[in-house]
Amino acid sequence: MSVAKKQYKRITTKSLVEMKANGEKISMLTAYDYTMAKIVDGAGVDVILVGDSASNVMAGHETTLPITLDQMIYHASSVIRAAERSLVVVDLPFGTYQGNSKSALESAIKVMKESGGHAVKLEGGSEIAESISRILTAGIPVMGHLGLTPQSIYKFGTYTVRAKEEEEANKLLEDAKLLQELGCFALVLEKVPAVLAEKVAKSLTIPVIGIGAGGGVDGQVLVTHDMLGMTHEFNPRFLRRYLDLYAEMTNAFQSYIQDVKSQDFPNEKEQY
Ligand code: KIV
Repeated sequence: MSVAKKQYKRITTKSLVEMKANGEKISMLTAYDYTMAKIVDGAGVDVILVGDSASNVMAGHETTLPITLDQMIYHASSVIRAAERSLVVVDLPFGTYQGNSKSALESAIKVMKESGGHAVKLEGGSEIAESISRILTAGIPVMGHLGLTPQSIYKFGTYTVRAKEEEEANKLLEDAKLLQELGCFALVLEKVPAVLAEKVAKSLTIPVIGIGAGGGVDGQVLVTHDMLGMTHEFNPRFLRRYLDLYAEMTNAFQSYIQDVKSQDFPNEKEQY
């Protein structure tokens, strides 16, 4: 069992590499706003991801593609104001780094300057190597993301498990090694077979954080709204729900409506 091996006042990219070396699993959750980030950080999560899943969770879009750099910066700056201990990683959104490495660097610098985030995350392997290298030359830490990369949903066509076939699995392993060589400090592996994910984690010294990638990796990430049960249309096998907040919140709202209608709220103690 992995337990905290060392107390960290503030998690850095170096702490994560150290955790992997010490066999301590890394916890990562998403947040997009101050209030949620305050709770997540206070609970002691190691990494907060300001994911472009904000496009789905916060804005109700079907994919992550529509969210803009300015919207990501708005979410990230709210999270940064709450985070006292966690490392805050910000997704570069679709279209802000794939075109050329110059615009990738400009996007990453804008995120770092305007949000105060600690690192950026980019989806892809060899095809974005130049962008990753250029961002790293500016001293900006980069987290990679391989496997199911939702920004490429229209290429894949579905959100099913990736790299089940040998050719794609080999490419993924090569890409993971390349990202480490380039200087990424960690890697997210999304929805790939557990055996492959474990092989990738064992081949690298940088931590591999999985979502739907089994238990053989160095840490886990979930979308906070999913693990709290606030979203209930989304039911992938990998998702463990720790609460049923959809039901709890619905009950609370219904009680409030009833209290307002019946004039039970506010009572004498709840007024001036
Ligand atoms: O945007 C996001 O929330 C993510 C996680 C699912 C890893 O990239």
